[in-house]
Amino acid sequence: MSARLTVPESSRVIAMGSTESGKSYLLKKFCLTRCPRAVIVDPMGEHSADVPAGTKLYRVRTLDELRRTLQRAPREGSRWRVVALIPASFGPEIAKMLLPEVVEDHNAYSYHVRGMALYIEELDKFAPTFAPEETQGLWRRGRHVGLSVHATTQRPHGVSRSVTAMAGWWIICQTHEPADVDYLAKVLPNEAMACVESLPWQWAVLFSPRTRVWYLLNREHKVMRWGDPSHAHAHASAHVTPAPARAPNAAPASALGD
Ligand SMILES: Nc1ncnc2c1ncn2[C@@H]1O[C@H](COP(=O)(O)OP(=O)(O)OP(=O)(O)O)[C@@H](O)[C@H]1O
Ligand SMILES: [Mg+2]
Repeated sequence: MSARLTVPESSRVIAMGSTESGKSYLLKKFCLTRCPRAVIVDPMGEHSADVPAGTKLYRVRTLDELRRTLQRAPREGSRWRVVALIPASFGPEIAKMLLPEVVEDHNAYSYHVRGMALYIEELDKFAPTFAPEETQGLWRRGRHVGLSVHATTQRPHGVSRSVTAMAGWWIICQTHEPADVDYLAKVLPNEAMACVESLPWQWAVLFSPRTRVWYLLNREHKVMRWGDPSHAHAHASAHVTPAPARAPNAAPASALGD
């Protein structure tokens, strides 16, 4: 029996929107900065800067290097980031390294390092429409071993449906691609969709597919409107105390959990 009794908390968040709409910025700010240990799938090579003080940075360019670094990093410290400059299409191989197909007695890497995050740029390539079972498993079973999965995509329509469905929160930034707009319109409450369709540049809508709660955030992350399925109408910020006061920290930043 394991000496550790608790599984570290974890969350699953997807940020979507067109290029420069602010999705990586928000996902880093709300999710990545809170993770002491992370593997970042970074095909564009944009994550080697901004590493928090006291966090050891590793950069790898191949799957073999990633495998070796995952063994080495926990021996060298408890705060580390592995930036993997590899294509996002290596999703299944990375999934196999982090999570076995059968999780028995928490026998997964993320549990042994006491929780970690996998941060993915280009989720539509990592987990496309017909993503294999091992890739989907990161979202299905990550919670049981303390694995958070945080991902961005310019094309939510091209992401595996089971992956988008299992995310606890969506961060929706400005997007105009018709297939993505149609897809969002099918899923979002009407009021939230109206906000998405008229989003100012680098504002965002946070949406929980499970609870259907949503928040409209301005560029400074202040909640401007929000909606809750238990309420008949969406609310303007002036009418929603104390929830809006809580939301910028509680919903996006600390909880964005499942
Ligand atoms: N809310 C914000 N406040 C201040 N700066 C922001 C904000 N959102 C985005 N930015 C800045 O705008 C630029 C583009 O943002 P970001 O990198 O998040 O775009 P992106 O949606 O991830 O684009 P891509 O799909 O090309 O990766 C960055 O320099 C970022 O720092
Ligand atoms: Mg980005």
